[in-house]
Amino acid sequence: MKRILVCGSNGLLGQKLAWMLKNNQEYEVLHTSYHRSFFLGNYPFDYTQLDISKRSDVKSLVTSYRPDIILNPAGMTNVDQCEVEREAAWKTNVIGLENLAESARRIGAKLIHISTDYVFDGKNGPYKESDRTNPVNYYGKTKLAGENVIIGSRVRNAILRTILIYGTGIQVKNNFALWVVKSLRENKPIRCFEDQIASPTFLGDIALAVLKVIEVDAEGLYHISGEEAVSRYNFAVQIAKVFNLDSSLIEKRSLSNMQLPAQRPPVTGFILEKAKNELRFQPTTLQQGLVNLKQELGTITLN
Ligand SMILES: NC(=O)c1ccc[n+]([C@@H]2O[C@H](COP(=O)([O-])OP(=O)(O)OC[C@H]3O[C@@H](n4cnc5c(N)ncnc54)[C@H](OP(=O)(O)O)[C@@H]3O)[C@@H](O)[C@H]2O)c1
Repeated sequence: MKRILVCGSNGLLGQKLAWMLKNNQEYEVLHTSYHRSFFLGNYPFDYTQLDISKRSDVKSLVTSYRPDIILNPAGMTNVDQCEVEREAAWKTNVIGLENLAESARRIGAKLIHISTDYVFDGKNGPYKESDRTNPVNYYGKTKLAGENVIIGSRVRNAILRTILIYGTGIQVKNNFALWVVKSLRENKPIRCFEDQIASPTFLGDIALAVLKVIEVDAEGLYHISGEEAVSRYNFAVQIAKVFNLDSSLIEKRSLSNMQLPAQRPPVTGFILEKAKNELRFQPTTLQQGLVNLKQELGTITLN
């Protein structure tokens, strides 16, 4: 039986992984996150609080639990917040990784980490794993620095980069798709970029890719996303169609006319050949992923 320590289990991906790992008898899992309690606390999961930026806490938990794998979907993920709260972003996204890598190396555990398309500048997406990185905002810089910490530490590792995840969970922070659904359900007009293009990732797909990495003991860098590149505007229109909501409430906006704290990479998207060949990764179509999300959401009132 493999013992897995998950960090950031309260997040969107962390919760999905919790459910999927639970169904597999081969894994014993301890969930951890920054918050005192687990948002899935009504269900029988093992949970303890862990701030990955605290070196001694990470060291003592890893030393006592002795996982075979440390799985890290934790991170400071709000792009604009990272731009203005730089110290906090560095603490979680870089120092946190130094702590995890150091502790993993000490006990011979493997470290599996989640990164982002924001390590690229978005001038010529879609990108493959070997393409040159050049982040345009502080979030991207910290995520790239986190990747480099892992690679430099020579710990056994796998890093999965992903893009614009859509899905849901309990008390999760709003993602783009949830924000669109909630706004349109409330008949609120929304503005979406027509010149920021990426390939959204169905939550179940990235979680499945992580499980596959564990199962086949894959190492190295993998690009995991959907296959269809869409602008944020077109993504919102497609969401409105699947959810039978009023797409006339969606206005086109241009990235260049908006004053946001953090710059965005305009065109990303991933080339998925490596993941398809080595992990048998098969991305869900955007249409099907949105139908799945609609079923999952049902009539839930969104935050
Ligand atoms: N969502 C996307 O569209 C997307 C796209 C590309 C890459 N990614 C990457 O994928 C990963 C997962 O994303 P996500 O959307 O699931 O993120 P999320 O919903 O924002 O969850 C991140 C979790 O990290 C935890 N966390 C933050 N600081 C921590 C710390 N110092 N110690 C321990 N836990 C901490 C938070 O825990 P608490 O809730 O307990 O405070 C939070 O639940 C992230 O690394 C992100 O960079 C996400």
